[in-house]
Amino acid sequence: MIIADIRPCQAGHVPELERIDSLCGSPAWGRGPFLHHVASDAGGMVLGAFLKGELRGFLAWEMRGEEAWILRLGVHPEFRRLGLASQLICALEVLALSQGCARLCLHVRSWNHPARALYLSMGFRSMGVQEGYYSDGEAGELMTASLPLEVLEDL
Ligand SMILES: CC(C)(COP(=O)(O)OP(=O)(O)OC[C@H]1O[C@@H](n2cnc3c(N)ncnc32)[C@H](O)[C@@H]1OP(=O)(O)O)[C@@H](O)C(=O)NCCC(=O)NCCS
Repeated sequence: MIIADIRPCQAGHVPELERIDSLCGSPAWGRGPFLHHVASDAGGMVLGAFLKGELRGFLAWEMRGEEAWILRLGVHPEFRRLGLASQLICALEVLALSQGCARLCLHVRSWNHPARALYLSMGFRSMGVQEGYYSDGEAGELMTASLPLEVLEDL
């Protein structure tokens, strides 16, 4: 694992966020959602993973009651399997706990084995599949993890 600098992204990072997102295989999230979340009053709603000052991965999230929802997560293809996504989720865990959240939640496409493996390794459990969840009509699998996380592997 390489230790990344995990910190909130700013509006100036949005073009790079979009670029990484475009390399992640799903329909693009778009500039609007990135801008909205980096500008959020709550702050820190898009966490960036920086290596040598360069943005290599991100996690966008929002609070819904006592749940912290992961909305978008992506790591540049050349920097995968280095622990960046795990570190982003751990950073979210700290933020979410500090804001009184009880659990982390997300949807994932059922065929997305790398993402499912990541989430399972971080202690997420499958809560079932929601047909037609995504805007392109694909089903979304709901996964949740109670806080603090029970990470299954040493990080
Ligand atoms: C899923 C994704 C975010 C993982 O990012 P990452 O930084 O490579 O993940 P990590 O290095 O933190 O991986 C942690 C663990 O997750 C699991 N994992 C991650 N990628 C995996 C893969 N391709 N195959 C199997 N297991 C994988 C492993 O258990 C891994 O630990 P290990 O490397 O010690 O075996 C990245 O592959 C990605 O950006 N994919 C495209 C976008 C996407 O699918 N986002 C999630 C949408 S819900």
